[in-house]
This record gives sequence, structure tokens and C-alpha cells, in this order.
Amino acid sequence: MASGPVVIEVRGKVAIVWVDNPPVNALSQAVRQGLSDAVAAVEADAKVAAALILCRGRTFIAGADIREFGKGPLEPLLTDVIARIEASPKPWAAAIHGTALGGGFEVALGCCWRVMDSRAEVGLPEVKLGIIPGAGGTQRLPRLTGVATAIEVVTSGRRIGAGEAQKLGIADAVVDLEPGEEFADRALAAVEAWLAAGTMPVPVSARPVPPLDAAEAEKLIAKAVERARGQLSPGEAARAVADALTLDFAAGLAAERARFLKLVGHPQAKALRHAFFGERELSKLPMLDGVKPRAVSTIAVVGGGTMGAGIAVAAADAGYTVTVLETDAAAAKRAAERIHGIYQGYAERKRIPADAVGVKAAAIDITTEIGDLGTADLVVEAVFEDAEVKRDLFRRLDKVVRPGAVMATNTSYLDPNRIAAATGRPAEMCGLHFFAPANVMRLVEVIETADTAPDVLATAFAVALKLGKLPVFARVCDGFIGNRIWATVRRHYEFLVEDGASPAEIDAAMTAYGFPMGPFAVYDLSGLDISWSWRKRNMADRAPDVRYVDIPDRLCEMGRLGRKTGAGWYDYASGKAKTDPVVEALIAEERARKGVTARPVAAETIQRRALAVMANEGARILEEGIALRPLDVDMVMIHGYGYPAWRGGPMFEADAIGLPTVLGWIEEAHAAGGPGFEPARLLVELVQQGRTLADWAQSR
Ligand code: 3HC
Repeated sequence: MASGPVVIEVRGKVAIVWVDNPPVNALSQAVRQGLSDAVAAVEADAKVAAALILCRGRTFIAGADIREFGKGPLEPLLTDVIARIEASPKPWAAAIHGTALGGGFEVALGCCWRVMDSRAEVGLPEVKLGIIPGAGGTQRLPRLTGVATAIEVVTSGRRIGAGEAQKLGIADAVVDLEPGEEFADRALAAVEAWLAAGTMPVPVSARPVPPLDAAEAEKLIAKAVERARGQLSPGEAARAVADALTLDFAAGLAAERARFLKLVGHPQAKALRHAFFGERELSKLPMLDGVKPRAVSTIAVVGGGTMGAGIAVAAADAGYTVTVLETDAAAAKRAAERIHGIYQGYAERKRIPADAVGVKAAAIDITTEIGDLGTADLVVEAVFEDAEVKRDLFRRLDKVVRPGAVMATNTSYLDPNRIAAATGRPAEMCGLHFFAPANVMRLVEVIETADTAPDVLATAFAVALKLGKLPVFARVCDGFIGNRIWATVRRHYEFLVEDGASPAEIDAAMTAYGFPMGPFAVYDLSGLDISWSWRKRNMADRAPDVRYVDIPDRLCEMGRLGRKTGAGWYDYASGKAKTDPVVEALIAEERARKGVTARPVAAETIQRRALAVMANEGARILEEGIALRPLDVDMVMIHGYGYPAWRGGPMFEADAIGLPTVLGWIEEAHAAGGPGFEPARLLVELVQQGRTLADWAQSR
């Protein structure tokens, strides 16, 4: 076989079956057909005693071709291809480099032997796409690792490194490549040694499943369901694995297939595919087309507080040379401790060895001399959120930062145009809005000001990608994409409180919707004072008909600024959020003052209002050109604000529910919220035209 994505090369007694389907060797129909044909070719070649699957490019097979999902099954089915490999009289081996994921790992599990590069990883990430492994993964893996481990692996979708894979019995050999050595040669040598030993291992599907108490399996399933917060795939994946305890292999495989087919067309799977491809679309922007980013090797971070320290760690870990500027020796010491603390946390979670903490922390330079920033290629400001403080800083930076360096502000609410105007080079400025903790959170809003040069924007995107972040393009408005939507929906949650719902009821409704935390718990966690000062600046001169809830201001006046003061919407004296009679009394008092008769608010009302308000504000952001595409809004809400990925984000979900229905809910929210909550023109027009947001995005 000499053409197509699967090619055979015979070396001695072993047929190397090369898979070459860039970029990630996904199992397209052509690859499945190629593998199936290869089984026949290997069986027909009398000189060949065994086959070895190797992949070209950066990785082993990374799974089924996700783009084929939703198109209906195309022959040959992967399950059948794997069955042919496993049933072949000549043993097959898989040589894994990069990542063997999903269907790729399932192909490897159908082989007699697995040899892994020591840097390689395997995993079954299907649950993240709203499905379960559909080609025997749930039945073969527990035969190697036991049911409990297999449940943990399929429900988390995590990757397993080569060392762990060997301990778990997944990898039969792990090779550490010396410089200049080819993985293919080492893998081939392993297969030759196995052949020479003359013992054929029992196919994985024919091995017994290590027993596990049924009650124990039920507990693991229940835990997976609970953790999934409404997402169906983890529970289904756990059940599929547990089937292996009661069903024989063939029946288990059939049950797995039925569960897979039930999920693959489910709206949750569609939403998660949108999230998967959405992440990868973020940096594909027309304005970045052909624009070369500036070279960046040195990053300076101004301010070593929580945000600055997180950014510094993210940058250092991505391989940049990093300097942090602090105001004085005491602040510099605190910044150093913070950075050390972050690495200490990594060591505790076994992400880095304990003895690496000091080395990593020391690699980040901390200075109190602004002149030390003169050689930086990128300067990221992360100081106190005050316009004058920031403008003054940029005036000083302008004098020392080298010409051609990019300067970015991490402001979340201030106007980057005004900050940039403090310098004599606004074209070299942009916003880089990280989310705390910046070393963990993947979302970064990249803000284009009125003057940002195209290659400055391209540089910001390139650096964010190198940091492993998800950069989302946004233009300037109050709060950009995420905080603007959050501030709008938060006001609406406050209306619901005034109208009769309790903060705890709203939190319960939104966690039931799939958010990891309710909005009032989030409010308390991030601190009530940020929005308090925003309201003082922006809402003091509001028109008389603008609905305004005074409760959060009153809480702040009482010194209840959230968790950091031990109380906010909830009381934290016990260490846990508790409903506080003081807050209940305050809410009752405010309702009475406004003449509101409290009425019960159903969880569904809370949920549909929240979706409607978020989608409506997102649509305004789109019609104003602040965000470019609905997917940008969705990715911000999923990655920055806990919007359940399995719902696809507010814009995707609004399309999925149907814009006419959602518009009805927006009108309901407008009736309750008054000015500021009018339906977005874009949505009204789309409903009139019978189109969706996705249609709109495509036609632009
Ligand atoms: N199918 C189709 N396209 C895929 C793909 C897949 N399984 N995996 C990646 N791609 C595409 C990406 O969309 C991207 O396309 P683009 O360049 O046009 O944007 C390109 O391949 C490169 O992907 P990344 O940018 O993600 O590259 P990285 O090097 O950062 O990561 C990876 C590589 C770790 C393989 C990552 O792409 C990944 O996690 N892929 C998904 C793996 C997965 O979920 N596999 C399970 C699929 S479901 C399945 O197998 C069902 C089975 O049980 C029957």
C-alpha cells in the first residue's frame, strides 16, 4: 500500500503501518479504511509476522474525526476496524508518541502490545465532547486497570503519562529516547523482542474484568453524576464502564455503542463541539491575517499583587524571561512570597517537584527600579484599578520602555484609550485582561484600543497563545465582554432578590443550571467593593426611571464586602456560606421601602431570565462591534464566568432554544428591569428575518 493516509513499510518481519493524516492523525473514514485494508495486507504477506502502528507528525492518532460527528456513521466503523486488528492471527502493536486520545487510544487498546515514548500520553477525553468512548474503550480499559480506575479515567477525561500508563498495565514498554534516536527504531526493536520471546499476550477483550463490589461501582457512578452538574456524558461513561462487571465483552460493547449513539446527536454534544472548535477559532481573525507579531522574549509585569504574580508565573512557565516591578522593598518582598507561594502550591499538587520551587521562583526577577524595564519586549501593567494611578505609571513607563516594545494594561473596568493617551505611543498599547488567578485561568481578553497597531494586537495574541491561554478579541467598552455581561446580569439577579427570590434561591437555581458557583457566592468571593465603586462612578447620576437596587450598597456601608470581611450576601463566620438574618432583614426592609410585595420566583424563571439577559447583552456587544462573533462571547462566558460548557455559552444556547422564544424572555426581563434591558436590535432583526446568530456570524 503506497498511497492514502495509511501506508505500509515492511522492515524485516514487521510491517510498520504508518498513519499520516495531519494535523493530529484523526481517524477519518480514509484512515479507518486504510487501517482495515492494512489488516488484510499484513495477513496476506507471508514474510510478515507482526504489525506496528506508527504515526507521522506530532502525535499518535488523537481520536475520531470530530468533524465527522453529526454526519451519521460512515463505514468502516472504528469498532469493526479494531475488532479486525485484535482478531488478526498476526499480533499488532501500537507505538505511541504525542497523545493517543479517544479512538486513537482505543485502537492502541485493540493491539497486543503498546510501547510508549516516555513523553507520550494516553486518554479517553470523549466526555469533554459530550459523548463516551465509542470503540471499546469502556470495555477494554477496565480489563487492564480495573473498573474503579477506568471510571476515574473516562469520567475525568484526563491524560495519563507514560510512567503511570506502565504502572496501570496500559503500556507494555516505555522508551526514553536518546538524542538522535528514532522512536520508530526503538519501537520496532521492542516488537522484535516480543516476537522473539514467542509468547502472544491474551487480547485485552478476552481478559477477565477484576471484580468490584456492585455497591462500590454505584457509588463511583453517583459521584461522577454529581460532579458533572447536569452534563450527561460523565455519568453515562461511568455506567458504560460498570457494565463490564455484569456483561460479557460483546454485550458490553453493544451497550457502549447504544450509549454512544444516544449522546452523539444530543444537544449537549453539539454544544461541547461548539466549545471545542470555538476555542480553536478564537485567534483566527481577519485583522491578524498575515500580520507578523513582534518578537518577544522578555516580559515585564508591573505590580506583584495577586494578578501580577499570576501573570509573572504564567509567563515564566511559558519560557519568557520575566521581571516584576514593585514600588518598594517591602512590596517586592511580598511579591516574591506570592510567587513562591504559587510554586509551592504546584509542588503540593505534584505539578512540579518540591526542589524546583525555589529555582522557579528565583527565576523571576523582582525590581523596584523602573529603569530595569528598559529592555522588556512586552510590559504588562497589573496595578491598582485607579485611572490616575495607571495613567501616571504609563507616563513614567513611556520614558523608559524601549521603542517598539508593546505595552498592555490589565485593567478590567477602566478605559484603555485614556490610559494609552498618557503615553506618546498609543499605537503600541493594548489591553490584556487576565482573569484571577492568572496562572490558572485560561481566558484573556485582548483589547484593541482606538489606536492599537495591527502587529501590536498580533503580538498580544501570540504571547497569550504561548502562555497557553485562550485570547478573545474585544474592543473598548465598559467591562469589555465578560464583566459587562456579568454586571448586567448581576443587576438583574438583584432585581429578582428585590422582587421576592432569596440570594440562596438564585444561587441554587444557577448551580442547578450548571454553574460551579451561584452568582451571589461569586459576588462575595470577588468582593462587593469593586462594583460599589463602579456604581458610585457610573450610576450616581442615573435617570429616575432606571431601576436600582440599594441592597448591595447598604451591605458595603455595613462593612460587608464579601468573604474577605467574613460577611457579604452570606455570613462566613463558620467558614462556610450561611444565610444571614441580617441580610434577610435588610432585604425585607428594602422591599418594604419600595412598596414591593415579595412573590416566590421559580428556579426556571431565574434561569431563563439569566440566559435572556446574558444573551441580550451579548447581542448588544456584537452589534456594537465590541466582540466580533457570537463564539467569542460564548468562550468568555464559559472560560471566565463558569457558564456550563455543555450548554455552549449564552449565544449558542439562545440559538439552540430558538431566538423567538428567547426574545419573549428578554421582553419579560425588560418589563421587570426597565431601561437598560430593552431587547437588542440585532436579536429583534434576526427574529424578524427568521435567522439565527450562527447565520448572522456566517454571513459577515
Ligand atoms: N478531529 C478533528 N479535528 C481535530 C481533532 C479531532 N479529533 N483533534 C484536533 N483537531 C484539529 C483542531 O480542530 C485543529 O484544527 P485547526 O488547526 O483547523 O484549528 C487541529 O486539529 C490542531 O489541534 P489543536 O490546535 O488542538 O492542536 P494541539 O497540538 O494544541 O493539541 C490535541 C492536539 C491534544 C490532539 C488536541 O487537538 C485535542 O485534544 N484534540 C481532541 C482529542 C479528542 O477529544 N479525541 C477524542 C475524539 S472523540 C473519539 O475519539 C470518539 C471515539 O471514542 C469513537
